[in-house]
Amino acid sequence: MKLKNILILFATILVCLSCQKKEPVRGLIAQKAMVVSARIEASNIGKQILEQGGNAFDAMMATDLALAVAYPYAGNLGGGGFMVYRLNDGSVGALDYREKAPFAATKDMYLDSIGNVIPNLSTRGAMAVGVPGTVAGVFEAHRKFGSLPIETIMKPVIALARKGVIVTKNQELRLAQKQPDFKLANKDSILFSKNWKENDTIKYPNIAETLTRIMENGRDEFYKGQSAKILAKFIQNNGGIITEKDLANYEAKWRTPITFNYDNLRIISMSPPSSGGIAMAQILKSVEDYNLHEFGHNSVKTIQVLAEAERRAYADRSYYLGDPDFVNVPQDKLLSDNYLKNRMASFSFKKATPSTEVSHGTVDIIESDETTHYSIIDQFGNAISVTTTLNSGYGSKLYCEELGFFLNNEMDDFSSKPGVPNVYGLIGAEANAILPKKRMLSSMTPTIVEKDGKLLMSVGTPGGSTIITSVLQTILNVHEFEMSMQEAVEAPRFHHQWLPDEIRMEPNRFNKETINSLKQKGYIINEERSLVIGIVDGILVLPDGTLEGGADSRGDDASAGF
Ligand code: GLY
Repeated sequence: MKLKNILILFATILVCLSCQKKEPVRGLIAQKAMVVSARIEASNIGKQILEQGGNAFDAMMATDLALAVAYPYAGNLGGGGFMVYRLNDGSVGALDYREKAPFAATKDMYLDSIGNVIPNLSTRGAMAVGVPGTVAGVFEAHRKFGSLPIETIMKPVIALARKGVIVTKNQELRLAQKQPDFKLANKDSILFSKNWKENDTIKYPNIAETLTRIMENGRDEFYKGQSAKILAKFIQNNGGIITEKDLANYEAKWRTPITFNYDNLRIISMSPPSSGGIAMAQILKSVEDYNLHEFGHNSVKTIQVLAEAERRAYADRSYYLGDPDFVNVPQDKLLSDNYLKNRMASFSFKKATPSTEVSHGTVDIIESDETTHYSIIDQFGNAISVTTTLNSGYGSKLYCEELGFFLNNEMDDFSSKPGVPNVYGLIGAEANAILPKKRMLSSMTPTIVEKDGKLLMSVGTPGGSTIITSVLQTILNVHEFEMSMQEAVEAPRFHHQWLPDEIRMEPNRFNKETINSLKQKGYIINEERSLVIGIVDGILVLPDGTLEGGADSRGDDASAGF
């Protein structure tokens, strides 16, 4: 072969090699069914229930309760959550088991005599607690769709609580950090007052007892039985206002999820009282006409167009949204093409739109960063997506030793005083003001995605106000930027929420030139506010029908499947 031909051949091989698409880095692959959650113990228990022939709703009860044992930071009996489902026949729905304000709650309950917000009252201790919804939620999902006996589902969870759970490094650090709050919130020392270290085993005999009574007596044990009596008395002894009547009246509620199209995807997400579905729909519909694929992942243009759509959606978010049982949410208007087109009309790639020009009043978000998410797809093709929370990490920090669980501080998700910033420097609105029996606004965004009419993904995350933008970036990572599920959950994330007027970015994970270019266009970049944005978990259905788990390494999250 002549030298020239050899050179051509060599160049051709080089070109071909560089053209070859990089093999995606994939998470756990399973043939039939999968659970992805914040702890391997919970994922394994969910998987075990599926292997025994249970469906996604049986596994939901097992995984949710196992997280209450293995991940007390956010998993809970003393909190609430949302579930979105898609059955194997394509029908969809949503379950709201969000906490509620007690009967004795009042609009001004967190204000002093001259109308100022009393520090910590809505965040720490018994006054911060909303009426818990988790037990009602998992029982309601099981009542409607479950197939295995409650005992089969709950026994492994109770066994886990008795055997104990190994402390991870993350857990050691979180427990150490929260010690001062545990002391302030509780009259006595609690199980977690001890200096727990990585690899210690914490046993949970008291929650095991509570779960055993619930297994034997059903959901009413928690709301009307011995547990309800203990709980109401405990909260009141600690200065709270929740009564046995509040517990007896709690009901989970079936809701119609938010559904919308983006290209050939159909996205199914949580409706009010979560803002997640509406805000995500507004953002994705606002950017649908831009060629994000061509702009590139986390490029200046992609970040700009998403940040501008986020700015506008978050400005709408808290102003209009609240519990639909109490306020009229103008959902159709907020999601209409014309409305969204008008909202984006002021956007230009040349420079940032100042948030003052987008605002129309006193609106914003009031959630904290700690929550947890799990996704399940069963061997029958049913999918669920569940996000559940105590609000802050370990909730109100008030721990009911006798029952063995923390109580939420979800009351802080209401606007304590509409128009005045809360502890996160954020402002609330009238639609989310406190009323007895009302549910507080949330950002939780459990989501299921279809592609061309078929199940594609179940996804969600913790992260307070950043939940919405983390979930939508993960969907775009798979759909626009062709990432695997694992790559999509691991990719660096950014977030804009209208106020404060800044793009929050995960530190040291974005290209410096990109950041400089955004700054030149007038964007304020904040790489200090959040070490991580979201801890996303998801399951992707691959073209051959197998399942890929995406378990975010920002947490201790893990997939389990078969
Ligand atoms: N407490 C966090 C949320 O509901 O969004």
